[in-house]
Amino acid sequence: MKPEARARTEAWLEYFDALGISPFCIDPAAPSTASSEPIATVAEGIAHPVWAARAATSNSAPVAQPVPVLPVIKSASLFAANDRVEGDTLERIRDDVGDDCRRCKLCEQRNKIVFGAGSAKADLVFVGEGPGHDEDVQGLPFVGRAGKLLTQMIEAMGLRRDDVYIANVVKCRPPQNRAPEPDEIATCSPFLYRQIAVIRPKAVVCLGAIAFQSLTGTKQSISRLRGQWLDFRGTPLMLTYHPAYLLRNPNAKGDVWEDLKKVMAHLGLKLPAKR
Ligand code: URA
Repeated sequence: MKPEARARTEAWLEYFDALGISPFCIDPAAPSTASSEPIATVAEGIAHPVWAARAATSNSAPVAQPVPVLPVIKSASLFAANDRVEGDTLERIRDDVGDDCRRCKLCEQRNKIVFGAGSAKADLVFVGEGPGHDEDVQGLPFVGRAGKLLTQMIEAMGLRRDDVYIANVVKCRPPQNRAPEPDEIATCSPFLYRQIAVIRPKAVVCLGAIAFQSLTGTKQSISRLRGQWLDFRGTPLMLTYHPAYLLRNPNAKGDVWEDLKKVMAHLGLKLPAKR
């Protein structure tokens, strides 16, 4: 077997092993929302935390690399645009959301608001799309089937759910699990921006194209940007596949594990030994 193929196969096996899950179906179709929309890049030579961290652990001279800088979506109103608040805390953001938020139409069918969960001091924030049925019932993010897989992914990284922070672009369940609509995203995402600004994580992992496109307002496809460091308001962001996609396409777990290993290296976490 060629070394490249061997390394890839080993990474897959390691990942499946770490998650305790075997592949049960293969569907090579990857989601694609291809677009030619350009993304601004940092001028060559500008230091970025990711590259700086890499340079610090490398013997060779750092090579300046452009990091795509992600735009931030336009907010629905001046009030909503106020997404950087002096002395902000997660409690204050929760209070601002309120117990019976009626800012957008998602309130009509939701059961519980899913604010987010985890450590306020997390180095790592995972961002999903929006609550599903189980999350809507429990008021907690990622507690259904996809959530269980996310928990396994977090644990495979040597972390616990309590060590990270998990949130969604919208805090109320879209009916029939449809994708959140632009007005809903514009209304709700400023709260997420505030959450990320308060936590100040070392990295954000964006789960899936819709979460990513909603968070950043871009139309970039996941196949184009997955697995590389991007810059979200100065915070390194890694885009990877959504766990729900992995449930349907277990053959993509190897790619996600590669992405998570990059995140682990960035956070200084120990990578699992190769067998
Ligand atoms: N999918 C998401 O994107 N978020 C959740 O909280 C659960 C499933």
